[in-house]
Formats: sequence, structure tokens, C-alpha cells
Amino acid sequence: MFTHKPTAVLMFAVLLGACASAAEDSPRLGTPITEAQLQGWDLIVAPDGSGLPAGSGTAAQGQAVYEQKCAACHGMQGEGTPGVPALAGGSPIATPPLMTAGSYWPHASTIFDYVRRAMPPLAPKSLTDTEVYQVTAYVLHLHNIVERDFVLDRDSLPTVQMPNGGNFIDRSQVQR
Ligand code: HEC
Repeated sequence: MFTHKPTAVLMFAVLLGACASAAEDSPRLGTPITEAQLQGWDLIVAPDGSGLPAGSGTAAQGQAVYEQKCAACHGMQGEGTPGVPALAGGSPIATPPLMTAGSYWPHASTIFDYVRRAMPPLAPKSLTDTEVYQVTAYVLHLHNIVERDFVLDRDSLPTVQMPNGGNFIDRSQVQR
């Protein structure tokens, strides 16, 4: 046993040396992200419509997407299921209040943005942009905000008036 010890110490010293020289070669900050990779992350859609992709969809088209990919959790009419929020119905001023995307959210763009990046939770970002337009139109239709054949696209989406849209105070420009 005793005779092995110096060898082990020597091996450790060699390993240490190898690590130190690799660290000197580069700061190891990773590789630059490519344009294509960046597009998968650059998903912000603002209320003015900036960031909305090409494509379009109607609630009539979105019904199939919704029933296949959303209804099991959010309910056939967007009424929610235990542990999963309702998407339509309700009111923020009822007692008790039920705040849904349809009744409470001030901007339709948030539905598009959120669904595109986060839903369905087991396969986020799996919907095509067209499917996101279609299913967003369907969620809006569940709360009677748009008609079944209203074409949602990058021009029309920012014009959609949400029922609770006027009841927020915009403090984004307030200087601290
Ligand atoms: C496996 C169940 C499941 C599926 C399928 C699913 N969702 Fe969700 N969804 C959730 C849960 C859970 C939340 C709440 C997440 C949180 O608050 O962090 C949520 C939140 C949401 C919200 C935000 C609601 C709020 O008031 O905060 C929207 C909008 C939404 N989902 C739309 C969709 C759409 C559209 C689909 C189909 C493409 C879908 N979801 C599929 C479980 C699901």
C-alpha cells in the first residue's frame, strides 16, 4: 500500500496541471449563440403588436387545436379544471372575483405571447405560429371578445379591445 501513495500524489499533480493550462487557454464563456438559436428565445410580443410573427388564424380554425391540446386541462369552454386556471368567463369585480385571461388581462397580445412560449406545459414552443394565432382567437372567442371568423394576425391583434383593458393605470413611464 505504502508504495502506491507517491504515484497517486503524482497523478493528482498532473491532473491539476492539465486543468490549469486549459483554463489559461480560454475564459470558457461558451460559444456565441447563432441567429437561428436566438429566434427560438426572442419571443416577446408587446401590446402594440411588435414581435408578432407572420401568419393568421380564426377561432373556427382554433377550435380543433384547443380541443386537442388545451381542453383536457382548461375545460371544453375554458372553465378550468382543478388546479388549472379558467381562461374565459368570470369577472374581476364579482364576489368572489374570478379573473381569467378573457375577463381580466388588459391586452390580447399577452395571450399570444404566453401561449407561444409556455403552453401546453408538457411541450412548450411546440405550436406553430399559425396554431398560436388560431388558438388565441379561440380563447378570445370563448369570452365573446372576437367572432368565430375574425382573422387574427399581426395587424388585427393589437386592435382587439379587451373587456378590462381600460381599467389599468399605465405607470411604465413614471420616473423613480
Ligand atoms: C397539462 C395541462 C395543460 C394543458 C394541456 C394546457 N395548459 Fe394552459 N395552463 C396550465 C396550467 C397549470 C396553467 C397555470 C400556470 C401557472 O400559473 O404557472 C396554465 C395557464 C395558461 C394560461 C394563463 C392563464 C392565467 O390566468 O394565468 C393560458 C392563457 C393558457 N394556459 C392557455 C393554454 C392553451 C391555449 C393551451 C393549449 C395550446 C393550454 N393552455 C394547454 C395547464 C395546461
